[in-house]
Amino acid sequence: MKVGIVGLGYVGLPLALAFAEEGHDVVGVEADPRKVAAIARGHSYIEDVPSERLAAVSDRLCPTTGYEDLVSCEAILIAVPTPLTRNREPDLGPLVSAGTALAGVLREGQLVVLESTTYPGTTRERLVPLLEESGLAAGRDFNLAYSPERVDPGRTDFTLRTTPKIVGGLTPACLERALELYGRVCDDLVTVSGPEPAELAKLLENVFRSVNIALVNELAMLCDRMGIDVWEVVDAAASKPYGFMRFDPGPGMGGHCLPVDPFYLSWKAREYGQPTEFVELAGEVNQRMPEFCVERVARALNDLSKPVRGSRVLILGVAYKPGVGDLRESPAIKIMGLLAKNGAELSFHDDYVPNLPEFALSSQPLDLALADADVAVIVTAHPELDVEAVVRSAPLVVDFRGVTRGIEAPNLVRL
Ligand SMILES: NC(=O)c1ccc[n+]([C@@H]2O[C@H](COP(=O)([O-])OP(=O)(O)OC[C@H]3O[C@@H](n4cnc5c(N)ncnc54)[C@H](O)[C@@H]3O)[C@@H](O)[C@H]2O)c1
Repeated sequence: MKVGIVGLGYVGLPLALAFAEEGHDVVGVEADPRKVAAIARGHSYIEDVPSERLAAVSDRLCPTTGYEDLVSCEAILIAVPTPLTRNREPDLGPLVSAGTALAGVLREGQLVVLESTTYPGTTRERLVPLLEESGLAAGRDFNLAYSPERVDPGRTDFTLRTTPKIVGGLTPACLERALELYGRVCDDLVTVSGPEPAELAKLLENVFRSVNIALVNELAMLCDRMGIDVWEVVDAAASKPYGFMRFDPGPGMGGHCLPVDPFYLSWKAREYGQPTEFVELAGEVNQRMPEFCVERVARALNDLSKPVRGSRVLILGVAYKPGVGDLRESPAIKIMGLLAKNGAELSFHDDYVPNLPEFALSSQPLDLALADADVAVIVTAHPELDVEAVVRSAPLVVDFRGVTRGIEAPNLVRL
C-alpha cells in the first residue's frame, strides 16, 4: 500500500515510520524544507523516532515539499498543526492550506483522514468543501474520515500500535476504509458514528487533563498558604484504589495540546450559546501558575535577604515536559520572561534544549551552572537530572515538580 502523510511533526513522523516499518511505501509531504532534508539524510528531529529506525526505512519513506507525489497514494493522512491565533481562537490556516493543496492532486478512490486535533465539525464543515474544490464529492468519489492522534511524546509504555485508535467516517464506506487502513498499524480500533464524536472525544481527553491539572494546581496554591505539603496530600488521596485519578501539580501546562485544544471547544461552543465554564476556568488557573512560581522564587530569595533583581537564577529544564525538547507553550519560558522582567540574571540547563535564542542563552553544564547560581529552580525534571547533586550544590533550590520528595534540606523549597 502507498500512504501519504501531510505534516511530518510530532504526530506525522511517527505515523510515517509506523507505516513504513509495516512494509508500506510512504510519501511524506512537509512544508519545512529543512525537515524534508533531515529525513532524506535519515536524521530524525523527533525524540520518539530514532534516526536508525528512520534510516532503516529510507527506501520506503519519501519526504517531499510537494503535493504531486500524493497522486499515487491510496490513503492520505493529514497531521498539520492546529494552533491558536493571537486572540486565542482556532487557527485553521495550516489545515486550510493543506486541504487546498490536496484538492489540487486528489483523485477518485482515495481515502483522506484528518488526524489533527480540532473542534467538532471541522472535517465536515471545513475540510469537505476544501477537498470538493477538486470536483470530486466526499463520500462518493473519495472517502473521508477523522481519527484523532493520541501520541504522547516521550511515552514508551503505549505506542501507536497499542493505543486504541478512534475512527469516525463520513459514511459507512469511509469508516470501513479507514478501519482497514489503521488496522495495519494499530491493534485496537474504536468506531464512532461519524467524524464529530471522534473530534469531540479527543477534546474531551485533553480538557479532562486540563481541568484535573488545574484542580491540583489550585490546591497547590492553597496548600502554600495553609502550610500543608500538597505532595503529601496528593500521595495520600492517590492511595484510594477507586474513584480517584492522580494528577500532579506543577508550574503550568505546556505543549501543543493542553494549553491550546480546550480553546477549540470553547470557541465552537459559543456558536451554540453554551458557555464552557469548566474549560475556561481550568485554562485561567493553569495560566496563572507561572506567575505564582515567580512569586514563590521571589519569596524564597527574600527569606535569604536577596532581591530578585541581580540574583542569578538557574532554570533546570525549559522544555514543557520531561524527556522531550519541545518548547511549545512551555511554562519555563513564561517563568523566565517574568524573572527577566524583574531583573534576575538568568541561566539554564536542559539536556534536550541547547539554545534559547529569545533569551540569548545556551544550556550550561550542570555543575558549572550550579556553582554560579543563587537559586536553582526545577521547572522540568528530565530523567537525567541528578536531583541530589542539585540540592547538594545549589545554595537554594525551588522544586516545582516534586522530584525532591524524600530529600530534607534547609536550602530546599518545594511547591
Ligand atoms: N504533539 C502531540 O503530542 C500531539 C498529540 C496528539 C495530537 N496532536 C495534534 O496533531 C496535530 C499536529 O501536531 P504536531 O505536534 O505533530 O505538530 P508539529 O508542528 O510537530 O508538526 C506539524 C508539521 O506540519 C507541517 N506543516 C504545516 N503546514 C503544512 C502544510 N500546509 N503542508 C505540509 N506540512 C505542513 C509543519 O511544518 C510541521 O512540521 C495538531 O493538531 C496537534 O494538536 C499533537
